[in-house]
Amino acid sequence: MFVFMTKLMLKTLQMVNTDKPPIWFMRQAGRYLPEYRELRAKAGDFLTMCYTPDYATEVTLQPIRRFGFDAAILFSDILVTPDALGQDVKFIPGQGPVLGELNLDALSLDNIHTHLDPVYSAIGQIRTQLDKEGFTDTTLIGFAGSPLTVATYMIEGRGTKDFMQFKKFLYGKPAEFDRLIDLLIECTAEYLIKQVDAGAEVLQLFESWAGAIGGFAFEKYVIETNQKIISKVKAVHPHIPIIGFPKAAGYYLKEYMTKTGIDALGCDFTLPLNFIRDELQTVMPVQGNLDPGILYAGGDILEREVKNICDTLGHKPYIFNLGHGIHKDTPITHVEQALKIIRG
Ligand code: CP3
Repeated sequence: MFVFMTKLMLKTLQMVNTDKPPIWFMRQAGRYLPEYRELRAKAGDFLTMCYTPDYATEVTLQPIRRFGFDAAILFSDILVTPDALGQDVKFIPGQGPVLGELNLDALSLDNIHTHLDPVYSAIGQIRTQLDKEGFTDTTLIGFAGSPLTVATYMIEGRGTKDFMQFKKFLYGKPAEFDRLIDLLIECTAEYLIKQVDAGAEVLQLFESWAGAIGGFAFEKYVIETNQKIISKVKAVHPHIPIIGFPKAAGYYLKEYMTKTGIDALGCDFTLPLNFIRDELQTVMPVQGNLDPGILYAGGDILEREVKNICDTLGHKPYIFNLGHGIHKDTPITHVEQALKIIRG
């Protein structure tokens, strides 16, 4: 418990007010860092980086060394779960993820832990390395994609703007869709439990495409799925704090917050600060929600918005973060500018 309380991020998640908010950025390890690009060129392939503990450790630590963030997020990707279940996953430079044809009968939970073992090793190695380099107060975050978000990639075969193949499957073949979702719930819960076994201190569930659906589908495939995963994880690790990030969930946010069992809410950049403060932060700690586009733009607007966020949300348990992942062309000086304003 003593160790817990020295860490800013864990204090905030336990509803303890701190002078300054803990800070980390979604996608804080990545292409905006020259040291990342260098290692990425050496490793060649993105998934090789994810599955090689030495690479994953190094890349996870890069933004910590440079910026001293209060939390390190495991370097991996949400698409390692379909890969572990047996669907072909590739990352093609300039295109992003490309997945092979979805064949439900070929997916299996049997080999997931063998497949994901390098991720568990990386987590242990990251913790050791953080401590070795003096980052003993840096919290280690594990993560996974939520079933609906991961299923969009599994069905579409790539990122999509309109989600039409995904929706045709969801609404047209509900029994098969449910089979896929049930498999993902099981896989994701087991994966997260093992991440905590390996040393993750906080978990984040990325429901990045929560905003793609509404109505009964939101209830069934966002709220119920996230709730089932969280209850399975908490049955084994009751004290692990879990942050939910249901991007663009809008109207459904409060229901998501109260029904899923999350401990803190990741807020996307569309949410007004007063609404976050008055309607969400009154229920639990919140995280977010600087628009990555404002960080990319920099200058006066960045200064104004960072101050505004800290002034509005900084009086109750709050974690500074972006409202979505950092853009790959973000100047490093803008990250430094933001940190200076937040830390004073
Ligand atoms: O936050 C971190 O620093 C940890 C690592 C992390 C990555 N992806 C590394 C990554 C995390 C937490 C993710 C989550 C992720 N991956 C999400 C959810 C968050 C979000 O942004 O909505 C999603 C939807 C993905 C799927 C994914 N991975 C896409 C669509 C892409 C291609 C788009 C892009 O930005 O290139 C990726 C690739 C990816 N994941 C990169 C990194 C650093 C870039 C790969 C490269 O080096 O070429």
